[in-house]
Amino acid sequence: MAKTPTLRIDRLLASMGYGSRTEMARLAKAGGITLDGAEMADVSQRIALTPDLPARMQVDGAVLDPLPGVVILLHKPLGMTCSHKEDGPLVYDLLPPRWRRRDPAISTVGRLDKQTTGLLLMTDDGALLHRLISPKRHIRKTYRATLARPLTGAEGAIFASGTLMLEGEAKPLLPAELQVIGPCEARLHITEGRYHQVRRMFAAVGNHVEALHRESMGGLRLDDGMTPGAWRVLGAEEVGRV
Ligand code: URA
Repeated sequence: MAKTPTLRIDRLLASMGYGSRTEMARLAKAGGITLDGAEMADVSQRIALTPDLPARMQVDGAVLDPLPGVVILLHKPLGMTCSHKEDGPLVYDLLPPRWRRRDPAISTVGRLDKQTTGLLLMTDDGALLHRLISPKRHIRKTYRATLARPLTGAEGAIFASGTLMLEGEAKPLLPAELQVIGPCEARLHITEGRYHQVRRMFAAVGNHVEALHRESMGGLRLDDGMTPGAWRVLGAEEVGRV
């Protein structure tokens, strides 16, 4: 079994955005950092990063934020951008402000367009991020699309063919599965993550996506009743379902 990593308390808290190491030393001296209810005055002490640490440690009277290695499930609302630096509302604005100061930073696992809603994962775990967005993984993603024009009935076979070429690309798309829900409503299962893929697929068959919502990624779905903008931290077992 892998050894539990340890870290100096001041380094841990600084990396989680609580403040500088000097500020953490000051906070500790004032009794603001506790473990199992006991004050921890010496922030140079190393602490084991066990999964139960956030429940046992309090900073300034509140339980510790999730440790590095966090994975977040978010219901992305319409009109928010998956970027760290663009103008306008960003998906990161939905998380507590302190989380913006974490190092390593929390990033989105791939991107959804500004006008796409639905399941979005975020993590500060670089290795996991790369695994999940790797083109080799072929993670199945399901989107629900509302279309400008009625489906013709030909789209399913074209998407499933494995020969559809998107404009400006050199390689055909892998087969994708279309489920018709209504005249202008469909569910599309894809295993790639090319730029604007779903919108471009429907454009390639002469249609236009008016609304797009990601329902699932691998074995993960949004929770029932999870409203746009809502999010929660995933447990290790759930992360394994992607
Ligand atoms: N395909 C798109 O066109 N947009 C998204 O946001 C995701 C998939």
